[in-house]
Amino acid sequence: MEEMIRIENLVFDYMRDEDQEQVSAIKGVSLTVEKGSFTAVIGRNGSGKSTLAKNINALLLPSSGVVYVNGYDTAKEEYIWEVRQSAAMVFQNPDNQIVSSIVEDDVAFGPENLGIAPEEIRQRVDRSLKDVNMYQHRKKAPHLLSGGQKQRVAIAGAIAMRPECIVFDEPTAMLDPKGRGEVMSIIRELHEEGITVVLITHFMEEAAQADRIIIMDQGEIALDGTPRQVFSNVEAIRNMDLDVPLPVELCHRLRTRGIDIPETIINMEEMVEFLCQYK
Ligand SMILES: Nc1ncnc2c1ncn2[C@@H]1O[C@H](COP(=O)(O)OP(=O)(O)OP(=O)(O)O)[C@@H](O)[C@H]1O
Ligand SMILES: [Mg+2]
Repeated sequence: MEEMIRIENLVFDYMRDEDQEQVSAIKGVSLTVEKGSFTAVIGRNGSGKSTLAKNINALLLPSSGVVYVNGYDTAKEEYIWEVRQSAAMVFQNPDNQIVSSIVEDDVAFGPENLGIAPEEIRQRVDRSLKDVNMYQHRKKAPHLLSGGQKQRVAIAGAIAMRPECIVFDEPTAMLDPKGRGEVMSIIRELHEEGITVVLITHFMEEAAQADRIIIMDQGEIALDGTPRQVFSNVEAIRNMDLDVPLPVELCHRLRTRGIDIPETIINMEEMVEFLCQYK
């Protein structure tokens, strides 16, 4: 296994502006993320998900502990571009990420900062916009686009940097169901093409699509495993103020009423398969 991310005993404290009190956001997290994997990170508000993500992108540096991205220690200033180029980030609000008044200029922004030659930038911009199905909108002003389209432009901007890994921090939170579906299908495609995906999400159905789910709770990792392993802890997940996917919830309720239904069902398709045995 090749490691994309290695986090060793990460502690991160914020200093609160109002009262200069220390807020402990990450309290000792260790984890490795394999190259090419698709990991979802879930957890209630304030559990430390965004803080973890920003430590992967060197937007924040550890209070203690070490974060390696593609082998580069994020705390070493000389590696900052290697780190940011290896692991790009896409945030929740597309409006805060779009910096230019024309779609294609926006996508060019990342590679320009990496010092890529203009000819190569041109090719990357076109390719990235095609990948997210926004090429036909390349000359438009971003503010004329829907939320989902803007988020796809932001993703194109990340892809144009040719990162090995993309960390998505609730990329679908501000989108309508159609926009959410479009963004999720792009995320799945990127994973299929070999990009390492870390997806922070509030949507359990999105998390269920990953190979691995990490649940953060109060700055620590509470659960870590395949969706099947993690979602078998229905009570523990509820105690962390989180939901489980609807099919998991349904199976759990049926089981508590004495129906003999396997613990392995985590999505609609498997639920349907199971029910069809009785037709
Ligand atoms: N800039 C900041 N200054 C002080 N405290 C902060 C700052 N940003 C976050 N925190 C605190 O750190 C903790 C973790 O916050 P973080 O944003 O990482 O959580 P999160 O899991 O991403 O939450 P959400 O689901 O709301 O996005 C919270 O207690 C939060 O209040
Ligand atoms: Mg957050």
